[in-house]
Amino acid sequence: MDILVIGSGGREHAIIRKLRESPRVGKLYCAPGNGGIAQDAECVNVNAMDKEGMLALAREKAVDLVFVAPDDPLGAGMVDYLEAGGFLCYGPNQKAAEIESSKVFSKNLMKKYGIPTAGYEVFDDPANALDYIKRLGKYPAVIKADGLAVGKGVIIAQNEGEAAQALRSLMEEKIFGDSGSRVVVEEFLTGPEVTVLAFTDGKVMRPMVSSMDHKRAFDGDKGPNTGGMGTIAPSPLYTPEIAKECMEKIFMPTMEAMNAEGRPFKGCLYFGLMLTPEGPKVIEFNSRFGDPETQVVLPLLETDFGEIVEATARGTLADVDIRWSKEACACVILASGGYPGSYPKGKEITGLDEKGQAPGVMVIHAGTKYEDGKFYTNGGRVLAVTAKAPTLKEALDKAYAGVDGIRFEGCFCRRDIGAKALGR
Ligand code: AMP
Ligand code: GLY
Repeated sequence: MDILVIGSGGREHAIIRKLRESPRVGKLYCAPGNGGIAQDAECVNVNAMDKEGMLALAREKAVDLVFVAPDDPLGAGMVDYLEAGGFLCYGPNQKAAEIESSKVFSKNLMKKYGIPTAGYEVFDDPANALDYIKRLGKYPAVIKADGLAVGKGVIIAQNEGEAAQALRSLMEEKIFGDSGSRVVVEEFLTGPEVTVLAFTDGKVMRPMVSSMDHKRAFDGDKGPNTGGMGTIAPSPLYTPEIAKECMEKIFMPTMEAMNAEGRPFKGCLYFGLMLTPEGPKVIEFNSRFGDPETQVVLPLLETDFGEIVEATARGTLADVDIRWSKEACACVILASGGYPGSYPKGKEITGLDEKGQAPGVMVIHAGTKYEDGKFYTNGGRVLAVTAKAPTLKEALDKAYAGVDGIRFEGCFCRRDIGAKALGR
């Protein structure tokens, strides 16, 4: 199978590295890719949102399957377009991807099918939304843009002033465009968060090992929200009892709800869960692999990933026996100074070999460029330094040892990835 992977971040690099282990995978292409991905696949500079360009590329390379990894092209109907062009695809079609691209759709789905989540109301008028928040008088209040907003569409308002400001910027100033035309106002939940990615073809649901992201920029969960500064897998908080409860009350009901709505989901379904005192509840769904969750989950997969990908696309996932390593995995993100705000690009990275790797770790490239034998920064999240070991502590020690050998001007990382999971 020759495969084209759409995307350009750490998630896509992790997917490509795993596909390369598969004996059934032949040539790998990535569009547009990055400097590190170019060491493992042929990168072609087609924009991830360019449907015509992507179809032309798939035809030119005569690939057997297209793996659509990021949320934006999934939400824009990339899979529908490529399937209409005759290509087998990994990833949900546009109607199924709405489980991520519209919070209003996903909240209404959960309400209709009794899937546990925070209580909520939907508003298309900022004054009504603010009235509602004032009437409840309960803070923090959680305000979410309906549409995709590069992971920044959730605002936790601590008081009325912050709520009013959030509604103004989302609904009137439209900082995320039409994504903020409607908002969801929901109840604030408390408890540890855990991510569960699941393989599904709409017929069977196969949860992967759990993981835990660290979304804030700085140690101690301080600073602004980011795309994710590091991950560990599995999460020690996600016990077999909780896993069983999630399977019965959340994972299977979600798959069945999507089928009942005529939107069968095939691909990777991402469950962002909060383990609340009343039991696990859904914080968000994503219609794709998480970034940087993928970096720690896929290295623990023992089954041929190529086989899973093909079976998912063909709807025969029930035939595949999926096995996981008992080891642990940790990933630390090296970011550009200033991220998640503005940051410089083009800084030379030292400590990497000619393949963009470093001793003892797997270096996943998130935002790099390769030029004249050197790697340069080309994004906010630059590298995901990942390590696998028998225990989480060893995996973290290995990952941080790898981090310490890599440098670029302005680089920073969190020093407390995995601390909570280790009970520190
Ligand atoms: P999201 O971008 O949907 O992942 O949300 C960003 C973060 O906001 C989540 O990881 C949670 O930490 C937090 N969050 C979202 N919804 C709620 C909620 N209802 N209660 C408390 N925290 C929330
Ligand atoms: N790491 C969070 C996400 O991929 O949405």
